Amino acid sequence: MNTEEKQICTDAACNCKGMGLDQKTCEEIVHHLRRAYCDEWLAFMQYWTAAQVVAGVMRPEMTCELMENANEELEHARMLADRIQTLCGEVPRSPQEILENCNCAFVAPTDPCGYRIMCQSIASERCAIAVYNRILKTIGDRDPVTSRMILEILEDEEEHEYEFRQIKEDIDASREALGMGVKTPMK
Ligand SMILES: [Fe+2]
Ligand SMILES: [Fe+2]
Repeated sequence: MNTEEKQICTDAACNCKGMGLDQKTCEEIVHHLRRAYCDEWLAFMQYWTAAQVVAGVMRPEMTCELMENANEELEHARMLADRIQTLCGEVPRSPQEILENCNCAFVAPTDPCGYRIMCQSIASERCAIAVYNRILKTIGDRDPVTSRMILEILEDEEEHEYEFRQIKEDIDASREALGMGVKTPMK
């Protein structure tokens, strides 16, 4: 065994140098990924719960969209958990930790009105999009692997925003066709 191999064997603990990153950069990236991980869990819970209670003329479409997007948020959480651990970080383990470290607020679907749930979901997606854009800017070209993963997630979030917005616009259009006028924006 040569000196380099011996060094690698004795230094078996997780080490950011192995990823070509200095410790400070690594910790900074993990900090942002942990917060995004918390957002993903809350988004999953928000959409999954909304899918159970949503009401209105487009209920089947809304349930389907909410469930589909909830599952994608969970997949984002999995991707983030993987990367956090690759970068020697700790994945948040409790609901308290998730609530204390999130960027985007959890919006409980207390009102089953589908239109309102769509508006809340659009707002949640816009928060996620802003967060991931901020993370991308912060990372810059320091960690291309994390940046690529964030871009992949960001693409999904933009699609989610579009899909929820499409349903909201369909509801607006059907109300207009019935001469009911567009719903007043929720507060
Ligand atoms: Fe997500
Ligand atoms: Fe999303």
